[in-house]
Amino acid sequence: MTKIAVVIYSTYGHIISLANSVVKGIESTGATADLFQVPETLSEDVLAMIHAAPKDESIKVLSSPDVLTGYDGIMFGFPTRFGNVPAQISAFFDSAGGLWASGGLYQKPCGLFTSTGTGGGNEMTIRNSLSFLAHQGMIYVPLGCATSFAELTDLSEVHGGSPWGAAGIAGADGSRQFSELELKIGYIQGTDFAKVAAKLSAAIPDATPAAAAAAATTTTAAEKSDAVETETATPASKTAAATPPASSEKSGCCTIM
Ligand SMILES: Cc1cc2nc3c(=O)[nH]c(=O)nc-3n(C[C@H](O)[C@H](O)[C@H](O)COP(=O)(O)O)c2cc1C
Repeated sequence: MTKIAVVIYSTYGHIISLANSVVKGIESTGATADLFQVPETLSEDVLAMIHAAPKDESIKVLSSPDVLTGYDGIMFGFPTRFGNVPAQISAFFDSAGGLWASGGLYQKPCGLFTSTGTGGGNEMTIRNSLSFLAHQGMIYVPLGCATSFAELTDLSEVHGGSPWGAAGIAGADGSRQFSELELKIGYIQGTDFAKVAAKLSAAIPDATPAAAAAAATTTTAAEKSDAVETETATPASKTAAATPPASSEKSGCCTIM
């Protein structure tokens, strides 16, 4: 079964409502969806000053990015900050240096959705997060238009969302709730993304370098008996081949994690 992680950050709750629609879309395909929130970086005092909503305790906090290696695809949802990702998401991305070094997210599909107050940042926020995803070697899956053309081109109401990904408009003061149309686009994106993740995980079951190394060491019975002889002859070289260096040892120019 295809496993999708949906990783979000939300200050005022709008992204949570969109994430719930995305999750429903994912689950409509038979895939599973686990919803996580990244750790908060602001103090309680500051959160109170900006009138942040209380944290939704029912959403698990993703304390380590390593958890994501167990998923076939990852969707990220977060509000804009002047067209960029919030500091909380940036801090989470920064904490994924170990995965960059080990290739833990390599060739995993990812999709993005966002939220803005006014529409400013609807597309840029997603585009501006791509550098992180590219460095991880993730495969960005845009929403496109093929399955959401009617919704994206519906001009009967103000709405967020673009070929880059679903989005909602919260209003300058955050008082607007996302419309049925915006939530539907999120549902479509979740559905489409889960289908792509299923196809990719079937085609490349686990493309991480660690998995490739493990596959390379899988041997037939005949090869195993050869290996026994080799092991007897050169135990040191066998040990070296079976023990990949720790990720920190692999980085030539710097030590990460
Ligand atoms: C520091 C900061 C910068 C923001 N920048 C923008 C912006 O550039 N454009 C915009 O439309 N909304 C902007 N907003 C509004 C947020 O995008 C809005 O509060 C958010 O989409 C609500 O989502 P949430 O309820 O999930 O937190 C900004 C908010 C903050 C706190």
